[in-house]
Amino acid sequence: MAKERLDKIIASMGRYSRREVKQLVKDGQILVDGKTARSAEEKYDPETAEILVAGQTLGYRRYTYVMLHKPAGVLSATEDGRGETVLDLLPAEYRKMGLFPVGRLDKDTEGLLLLTNDGELAHDLLSPKKHVDKVYYARVSGTLTQEDCDAFAAGMTLDDGLVCREAGLEILRAGEESEALVTLHEGKFHQIKRMLAFCGKPVLYLKRLQMGPLILDKTLAKGEFRLLSGEEIAQIIHGQNIQ
Ligand code: URA
Repeated sequence: MAKERLDKIIASMGRYSRREVKQLVKDGQILVDGKTARSAEEKYDPETAEILVAGQTLGYRRYTYVMLHKPAGVLSATEDGRGETVLDLLPAEYRKMGLFPVGRLDKDTEGLLLLTNDGELAHDLLSPKKHVDKVYYARVSGTLTQEDCDAFAAGMTLDDGLVCREAGLEILRAGEESEALVTLHEGKFHQIKRMLAFCGKPVLYLKRLQMGPLILDKTLAKGEFRLLSGEEIAQIIHGQNIQ
């Protein structure tokens, strides 16, 4: 990897600001490959340099991948003057890493949200060409029927002209209120709500369960997050879809 300034490398991990790194260098608190760093401007390859900050290994990671169980009421944005965003749910050091949500969930939608600072991966996951499937649990008002499943399977053009590709609708329970799993191969604005409203079954509750190979960790309570495992990162990077 290309060499980068020491203060940039250390600050990118979110724990220290560049100014703090400069002070740590002055205090002789930063060691690189066993030698005390003399200047925050020295350049190193972050993937090979062994950096110790105040006696602790830096543990450099080029990119960070976070799985968040998004609660309702929070915006899938990095900043918003009007309300709490998903970044506000993360600790301060994560907020300095340049993380952003990969795709959006509506404010009232819950469930799996991936945050990363890996722009290339985000672009790939969102690209219509890559066909990354997303699975949602939906509770709707009204009785879902086989006709609704057929309409989803055929694809539909909504009253406002929006063309929706074929999608999956699997009924889990049909009744006055029905439950279903919806699989989308694309991600248009309010797509599930609009498709189900078009079928006359307005959405009461929506939760994303899966995105490509990534499955919402059941041990994460609403608002909780964890880093992706190495295996999960490899799966999303190598573009495996839902099995
Ligand atoms: N479809 C919707 O209608 N809302 C979401 O948040 C995601 C998919």
